[in-house]
Amino acid sequence: SPTIDSIGGEVAIRKPEYVSRGIRQPSQSVQKLIHSLGLAKHQEGGYFKETDRSPFYMESPYYPGHNRGTEGEPLRLGKSQEPVLPYPEDAQKKIAPYRNTSTLIHYLLTCDAYMGRLHKNHSRIIHILQKGRGQYVLVYPDGTVKSFIVGFDLEKGEVTQWVVPGEVYKASFLLPLSEEPSADDHLLISEVVVPGFEFDDHRFMQSYNELEALVGERAEELKWLLEA
Ligand code: GUN
Repeated sequence: SPTIDSIGGEVAIRKPEYVSRGIRQPSQSVQKLIHSLGLAKHQEGGYFKETDRSPFYMESPYYPGHNRGTEGEPLRLGKSQEPVLPYPEDAQKKIAPYRNTSTLIHYLLTCDAYMGRLHKNHSRIIHILQKGRGQYVLVYPDGTVKSFIVGFDLEKGEVTQWVVPGEVYKASFLLPLSEEPSADDHLLISEVVVPGFEFDDHRFMQSYNELEALVGERAEELKWLLEA
């Protein structure tokens, strides 16, 4: 995506110091933000809430045997806008043949949940910055590592929109808003996924071995991104 294609060079990837400095409890204002947005802890790390799921459906391009839109049966919708399953037994299968056309979430990193651990999705994911500052680390299928800072200091090359391609592993972590890490630090973003999010499309990086197979010697530097 043009949102990150031109990002080059290296940004140092360093584990945040919230734990080592004993900064364990978000400030009152960050706690208020969590409460006001109704966020819950996410298994990736951080906090999140799904704020929208499209009531419209599309064929899943990831369903086994799907032709990814080049030919075949079109999707049929019933009067209620529910999909008419060509094979009703598919509804029982683990991998759904249909997806909601989109989902939207809030995602928040805080001093007590300062990273999202390495995972990937079949779908590209659109990220939009709302508040704060953080860093992303992407690991491409060919082992390329890309890292960039998300924030509002555009002159320093920070970005406010970033689209992570499908099948690219991503991790994220909180950066201090000023010189020193503080309980007030936060990164609030919105994420849009098309087709809508399903766990079937999602995968955590499984092991140090998987990371090492992708990035070789850099696995030592990046291994902390495996554990939220
Ligand atoms: N449920 C659990 N994790 C997620 C996620 O990342 N996005 C959405 N939309 N729903 C989820």
